[in-house]
Amino acid sequence: MGKDADRLELRSVTDDEFPAFARSVGRNFGGEPSQPRIERLRKLIDIDRAFAVFDGDRIVANSGAYTFDVSLPGGTTRGCAGVTIVGVATDWRRRGLLNRMMRAILDQAREREEPFAALYASEAMIYGRFGFGIAAPHVEIVADTTRCRIERPVGTDDVSLVDVPTAIAAFPAIHEAARRQRAGMMSWTDAWWRTVLEYDPPDDRDGRSPRLLALIPDRGFMTYRWKERFDHMTPNGEVEIQMLVATDPEAESALWEFAFSIDLTTKVSSFMRPPDDALLHLVDNRALVQDRGSEHLYLRLVDLPAALTARAYSADGEVAFTVTDATCPWNAGTWRLAVTDGTATCEKLDGHGDVALDVAELASISLGGVRLDHLVRGRRASVRRAETVRLVDRMFATERAPWNPNEF
Ligand SMILES: CC(C)(COP(=O)(O)OP(=O)(O)OC[C@H]1O[C@@H](n2cnc3c(N)ncnc32)[C@H](O)[C@@H]1OP(=O)(O)O)[C@@H](O)C(=O)NCCC(=O)NCCS
Repeated sequence: MGKDADRLELRSVTDDEFPAFARSVGRNFGGEPSQPRIERLRKLIDIDRAFAVFDGDRIVANSGAYTFDVSLPGGTTRGCAGVTIVGVATDWRRRGLLNRMMRAILDQAREREEPFAALYASEAMIYGRFGFGIAAPHVEIVADTTRCRIERPVGTDDVSLVDVPTAIAAFPAIHEAARRQRAGMMSWTDAWWRTVLEYDPPDDRDGRSPRLLALIPDRGFMTYRWKERFDHMTPNGEVEIQMLVATDPEAESALWEFAFSIDLTTKVSSFMRPPDDALLHLVDNRALVQDRGSEHLYLRLVDLPAALTARAYSADGEVAFTVTDATCPWNAGTWRLAVTDGTATCEKLDGHGDVALDVAELASISLGGVRLDHLVRGRRASVRRAETVRLVDRMFATERAPWNPNEF
């Protein structure tokens, strides 16, 4: 039989099929998942959101979506499909299977009335065509702690190392409070918390310590590993922060100070931080903290008017966007966004708007993490009048950069 992708069946898997589904996920990323890893994945995903493409009994493509709520400017949250574990068997690539799976995931998100979808992209080139744009640019931070210090320390007396049960009881409320201060942060179920705090197999550690958990009650937490290393009898270890979340500036400073104070280490790094991370100004020597591009959060507006009216805005105004959307055609057309006293309405119009752009670009500006001015200069959006750019950027501006501290 020839390789006709149209004859393949695409559907959600059943519980019985889940282990084969998880093995397909592993194979397409070059690994073989252990039984605990399969069980963990099963707990994180609703079974009807685990999609597979079958060639007879064989799974030749897999994808899925986690059920999240994303935080929005102003402290509201809305449903968000967290697209994940996308893979196609090597012998079935470039035959349209990703196109079909993405269609199924986005149609399902729409049925579930989730205005947003989000993902992290292993290959940045792939997802723009499906309407995903970078909405929360993240940075990787590496600080040389032998030569720079926190300039105005608050002290670390309030920071304690805690065990997993204490963390599971204390961290979620802090995370929830932090979500009200920053857009882009996903809600986590108990299964997610158990994954990020409890699940710690030695083969994930790559020579580093087990995950360590630090808490400032009600105000902040940090999860990290440290790697011991000696060069010519001289300590040269590294502290790798996975998550550092705080609800007030003193707690944030105290957690960084704690990380900087860990003996036998010369570096503190964190892979995914917001570009306006406090650390960049907490230190006495900014030149000794590198911040470079990291994995960014991609967002998609599944239901454009619901997505744009859910957030609070920084300035009143009225602007019409003419939007293209090849994957979700219900979003295409001209939409008037009108904000009065910070509250938005969005309705469809005839004719051309003030700004022309693809839905991916609208997603990029939707949380305030990317400015329209930047997209216009990057030739990804066009405006009829220059003052529209200033108006849109004032309306969409947020106090803090959007950020989601955990890849999914
Ligand atoms: C990336 C991957 C999922 C694509 O699946 P696929 O079924 O081959 O993709 P499709 O044939 O449906 O192609 C969909 C579109 O994406 C494009 N595309 C696919 N892979 C691409 C790549 N690596 N880079 C750029 N564009 C790509 C195709 O050209 C096509 O565009 P078009 O519709 O405009 O013609 C698959 O190659 C894969 O599993 N790779 C290894 C795992 C991986 O990288 N996963 C991505 C996780 S973020």
